[in-house]
Amino acid sequence: MSSLSLPEKVNVLLVGAGGREHAIAWRLCQSPHLGKLWVDSNANAGLLALGSACPEEFTLRRKYYLERWLAQENIGFIIIGPEGPLAEGMVDALTTPERPIFGPTKAAARLEWDKAYAKTIMRQTSIPTPEGRVCTTLGSALAYVTERDEPCVVKATGLCAGKGVTVCKDKNEAIAAVRKCMESKEFGDAGTSVVIEERLEGQEVSILALVDGRTITLLDTCQDHKQVGDGDTGPNTGGMGAFCPTPLLSDADLQAIARDVFVPAVDGLRRQGIEFRGVLFAGLMLTHAGPKVLEFNCRFGDPEAQVLMARFQGDLLKTLWLTATGRLADAQFSFDPRTACCVVVCSEGYPGEICKGMPIVGLEDLPKASTSPIGPFFFHSGTKAEKIGKIVTNGGRIVGATALGDFLAEAARQATVAAGQISFNGAFYRKDIGHRVLNHIQNAKLVKNHEAV
Ligand code: AMP
Ligand code: GLY
Repeated sequence: MSSLSLPEKVNVLLVGAGGREHAIAWRLCQSPHLGKLWVDSNANAGLLALGSACPEEFTLRRKYYLERWLAQENIGFIIIGPEGPLAEGMVDALTTPERPIFGPTKAAARLEWDKAYAKTIMRQTSIPTPEGRVCTTLGSALAYVTERDEPCVVKATGLCAGKGVTVCKDKNEAIAAVRKCMESKEFGDAGTSVVIEERLEGQEVSILALVDGRTITLLDTCQDHKQVGDGDTGPNTGGMGAFCPTPLLSDADLQAIARDVFVPAVDGLRRQGIEFRGVLFAGLMLTHAGPKVLEFNCRFGDPEAQVLMARFQGDLLKTLWLTATGRLADAQFSFDPRTACCVVVCSEGYPGEICKGMPIVGLEDLPKASTSPIGPFFFHSGTKAEKIGKIVTNGGRIVGATALGDFLAEAARQATVAAGQISFNGAFYRKDIGHRVLNHIQNAKLVKNHEAV
């Protein structure tokens, strides 16, 4: 695989149907190497405007059909967006010597699909992470949360689209969270066991790195907003908005994080005979005792991908190909110096029960070929094209309104205004994306001014 060079034109299949994939597809369309772009059969309306839909659902249950179809359409590169197909083993099943896949194998993606395994790797490799315990029975989990005095966080160990984590303020909440996972099985098999860990305080950052097995290249840092309500209130979601870059980490901090988190994680897997290729994403909390890893993901984040892609400068297709074929060191790309901010417009009820099929008003077409866009861009997540000109809601997170600005405050203002242009029955969005960093900067300025007088 490592000697495979990028053809002049390559047909690409992008697996995944959400905002992350729309943002990735948009950048792929700007690559001179892109032949035909294929997208998921259930892709959102934004993706369908950029690529052709696969004739059937892309799932490994249909492996032999898929292999025939991939050969028939001469697909030379597959890019996997979401965690589900990685956990299912799609990379293992469909990689061939001539057809690389961007994304880790099932064994490498276990860092994401099994939080207990991730904790074990972190302990073995001394990656800083909250102190905690894995519980596999309801009795042991209830006993552990009851005996703890400090507030804790209860996490279903399997994949839950960002919703399987409860940050508890007291014992009663922790007991309820354990019961939700292990007794009422709200997250199905994903909650059969839980990680219970100390509750930390601090700013969060999402640090994503491209990894080709050996070379690790950190991308600019993002901050996501997991909780559904303004002021970081309410239950966790997949992510209500993000911005990039963050001013929270210096180059020296990032080097330390590469050394203390990314290198040990990739090496720890390698010692088990597992090579990681794709995106490794560490969700970190910046505590008084230094950065600690809350979770690993093995793919681009969403909405992180939307702000990263808004700023990405270079040939994304080539960059991902070089990563998948073990030559990341040859990739050349950079990021727009401006800040990007994304505000996600959601359906009423999200992250719980939602209604689908609401007509959406206010969506502009994304500019297709511009490399220096001014935005705002509307990256579609849960949208569906019903008929020409009519787009309806089809999920919890509907559209990411993403804007660039010279400063975070400007990018956040523009993205929030753009989010307000999207309307459908029950639409809501957070109006304070960036607030923690903006307050932090504001406070820092006050301290500085105070020192100056
Ligand atoms: P995770 O899926 O593990 O990243 O958790 C989702 C979100 O829950 C994180 O982005 C944090 O906002 C919060 N969280 C997770 N673990 C902790 C922790 N140990 N302390 C405080 N908050 C946490
Ligand atoms: N936004 C966080 C995630 O994609 O997991």
